[in-house]
Amino acid sequence: MRMRNKPWAQDFLIQHPKAVLDPKSYKGHWKDHHQKLILEIGSGKGQYIFDLAKAHPEHRFIALEKDKNVSATALKKPDVLHLDNLVWINNGAELIHEWFTEGELDEIHLNFSDPWPKKHHEKRRLTSKTFMPGFFKLLNQEGLIKFKTDNQKLFEYTILQMQEYALEMIFFSVNYIHDPKEDDAYTEYEMKFNALNQPIYRAIWRKK
Ligand SMILES: C[S@@+](CC[C@H](N)C(=O)[O-])C[C@H]1O[C@@H](n2cnc3c(N)ncnc32)[C@H](O)[C@@H]1O
Repeated sequence: MRMRNKPWAQDFLIQHPKAVLDPKSYKGHWKDHHQKLILEIGSGKGQYIFDLAKAHPEHRFIALEKDKNVSATALKKPDVLHLDNLVWINNGAELIHEWFTEGELDEIHLNFSDPWPKKHHEKRRLTSKTFMPGFFKLLNQEGLIKFKTDNQKLFEYTILQMQEYALEMIFFSVNYIHDPKEDDAYTEYEMKFNALNQPIYRAIWRKK
């Protein structure tokens, strides 16, 4: 998600009560008294994770978004201040191993991740070998990876990548727009594609 530079974004994020400025200091302690720890990577404007956090006060949600302008736009939404079980990290997934211990996460959600279609950009894809071994380590036993995209090629690529890890696929849909939705929320991108009646692909894997 690209957004015009917002000169106020940096200061706004530094002062925002939901923004975690030093994620390292929470390493091993994120879950607190909650049942599950759920991380969304590439949260965009945050609608998805805000809605899930509202629906599940028993779990703790962490939004990770690398773009400061996008993060600031998300945190401008007033309802975020009432979500006691949600925090926001404005940073890139490249550093994730510094913030979580192995097995600390119950779920990782990847929604409409940037597809980076050119072969020489493959290593930037969130489901590539750059990121996946680290994500896999941070998931606990029976941890879940939930993935949604409008991009058929990225979906196919991701299905193949996931076979490299001890993961079993427990959900698969190439027509998710028309499937019944269980324990899910819409992202901003998803709403846009739904309005255009474009296909949405979804899969969920569980650690074996
Ligand atoms: C296409 S947008 C999708 C946003 C949102 N998930 C949705 O579905 O509406 C992808 C988002 O992922 C963020 N992103 C891409 N690579 C990232 C990374 N390595 N770490 C954190 N965020 C990343 C981008 O800045 C962008 O906001």
